[in-house]
Amino acid sequence: MPAIPEPSQPILEFRNVWRSFGKKTVLAGINLAIHRGEVLVILGGSGTGKSVTLRQMNGLDHPDRGEVLLDGEDITKLSETELWRVRRRVGMLFQSGALFDSMTVFENVAFALREHTQMSEPEIARRVREVLGFVNLGAEVETLLPSSLSGGMKKRVSLARTIALQPEVLMYDEPTTGLDPVTSMTINRLIVDLNTRLSTTSIVVTHDITSALYVADRIAFLKHGQFVFTGTPAEAKTSSVSELRAFLEASDGEEEAVAPTLIPQERT
Ligand SMILES: Nc1ncnc2c1ncn2[C@@H]1O[C@H](COP(=O)(O)OP(=O)(O)OP(=O)(O)O)[C@@H](O)[C@H]1O
Ligand SMILES: [Mg+2]
Repeated sequence: MPAIPEPSQPILEFRNVWRSFGKKTVLAGINLAIHRGEVLVILGGSGTGKSVTLRQMNGLDHPDRGEVLLDGEDITKLSETELWRVRRRVGMLFQSGALFDSMTVFENVAFALREHTQMSEPEIARRVREVLGFVNLGAEVETLLPSSLSGGMKKRVSLARTIALQPEVLMYDEPTTGLDPVTSMTINRLIVDLNTRLSTTSIVVTHDITSALYVADRIAFLKHGQFVFTGTPAEAKTSSVSELRAFLEASDGEEEAVAPTLIPQERT
């Protein structure tokens, strides 16, 4: 185990990380430092390796070479058992939400607590109510089945389940895909609010540029297996990486087409 980390040490760091599938090299020596407390957005075209990058951060996938440091500890060499410790610290919100359809909202959120903690049933009930509150859901949803929830509510229940175990890092893979602009904005607000209230670090992979610009402290752009840009949203807009500028510019028209008045107001 590493010593108590320096506050200035990145919470997560990629050092020259390579990953190929067959002959296809997806990550070609990525380097990236993720600062404690920030919301970092990863942008890049389809199939560039954004999800593969996320999966390196909790050991769901392993690099061919290179280091992935969590608080200075290289997690690439850990056993599956040791990785459970990492996965409690680095929570992931999957795109599908991955709720159990046959379980109520309460059971879905309680599941992880029953599996991974020694909490008593009254403690679990309190914790479930607390984390549902964090995602702005009331106790009345506890008895509902996922099939009766809207897409946005499902996302929030999944998020409640992810934060129940108090992770230090929250990873979101395409959190707003498939949601309407108003619901997307509630998720965007939650990402930012939770990062502050829970004192976490968040990493968001998205194609939704409105979402990216709303939540990001910094943006990292993945192209040809490398992070060719990292910087603030303002820096991204004037970046020398033309594809990144094209990404950001492509969204301008889209925002206007989708919600001409709502989104710009809500971003303030
Ligand atoms: N387990 C795997 N086996 C084989 N190929 C894989 C595997 N995981 C990812 N790949 C390949 O790696 C590449 C990058 O995949 P990844 O899912 O990270 O893309 P992405 O940037 O998240 O794309 P999208 O925006 O479409 O979600 C793709 O070509 C994909 O087919
Ligand atoms: Mg993906």
